[in-house]
Amino acid sequence: MIPLLLLLLLNNITLIASTVTITNSTSGRVSGSVELFESESDRAANCPTCPSHVTTYLDESPLTTANRVCSLLPPTVGGEDGGGCLTSLKKIISENQLALFIELGMKLDLHLKSSGVDMPSVEGKSFTYLEKIKLMQKLVHHPQVETICEVGFNAGHGTLLWLASGAKKVLSFELGQYTYSTKAISFLSELYPNKFQVIMGDSLKTVPSFHDMFPEEKCNILFVDGGHLYEHAYGDMGNFRSMRNESFHYLVIDDTNQEPVQKAWGDYRMQGLAKEEETVWSDYSEVLVWKEFQGRPIGVEVDGDSVVENWRSSMSYGVYL
Ligand SMILES: *[C@@H]1O[C@H](CO)[C@@H](O)[C@H](O)[C@H]1NC(C)=O
Ligand SMILES: *[C@@H]1O[C@H](CO)[C@@H](O)[C@H](O)[C@H]1NC(C)=O
Repeated sequence: MIPLLLLLLLNNITLIASTVTITNSTSGRVSGSVELFESESDRAANCPTCPSHVTTYLDESPLTTANRVCSLLPPTVGGEDGGGCLTSLKKIISENQLALFIELGMKLDLHLKSSGVDMPSVEGKSFTYLEKIKLMQKLVHHPQVETICEVGFNAGHGTLLWLASGAKKVLSFELGQYTYSTKAISFLSELYPNKFQVIMGDSLKTVPSFHDMFPEEKCNILFVDGGHLYEHAYGDMGNFRSMRNESFHYLVIDDTNQEPVQKAWGDYRMQGLAKEEETVWSDYSEVLVWKEFQGRPIGVEVDGDSVVENWRSSMSYGVYL
């Protein structure tokens, strides 16, 4: 059992007169704020009708939250960003979701460790690559994104990131070669019941058979992070194609720095089947993640402080053509 973890999701945002603050509803600690008015008299002059309290939750898309809160304000402070409300609020919410993800990611690791998992042998650990995390968060925040499909659940860090960033639903295809996957599933099920599903087996078989069984199931993000051999990466890209949401989707490929994956992604595009939008590079570093939040009291502590600069890795995204 993982008591109280759900409370983490109750961090809320309260709009009080001139300032929007983000408060941890468990501890009462304020972790960020944006000034909407210079003073209370300024607020009274500019927006006598502005509500005194708006409460919202971190497990909602930052854009949805920001739109809702800012639309309550007059254009000079809220509205279509004349007053910077949308931009500031989206930034604060994203940073808080990121902090929540890091915190939960570390709890996940503790859970695995205490269940006897040898941590250095765990593959992936996606929460140590800050630029990749930010890219994934940016994509999941797109207002049209509802369903995320991924090959490679592994120890659940990627799935946790999608969910902590407000994803509505995650479908995960996992080979299941490591026993820690099951332990990570039980951890995530307590946090996000009914929001994700893991389909065990070789994705080269399970993705096509899942699609045959549930042809109406379509994905807005298709994340390829399974077997890194050429045949696997290329096969996963090809099989996910029929699961793409034709009105809106992103195809995301992890570890495009690794030669077989890079070649698979290159060949797939060369055949005119997809196009790339962007590739981001990231250093492996637990410390980078921490530094990003120094000065902001978010209650996150990260073990160890080594930056491994030569462990650079890339993630690419684009769309199917
Ligand atoms: C919120 O406060 C509780 C209680 O102090 C703490 O356990 C939790 O880690 C905090 N959450 C965040 C995201 O800071
Ligand atoms: C495709 O995505 C949009 C949201 O972007 C959603 O409204 C629609 O229902 C999705 N279609 C399918 C078949 O899932």
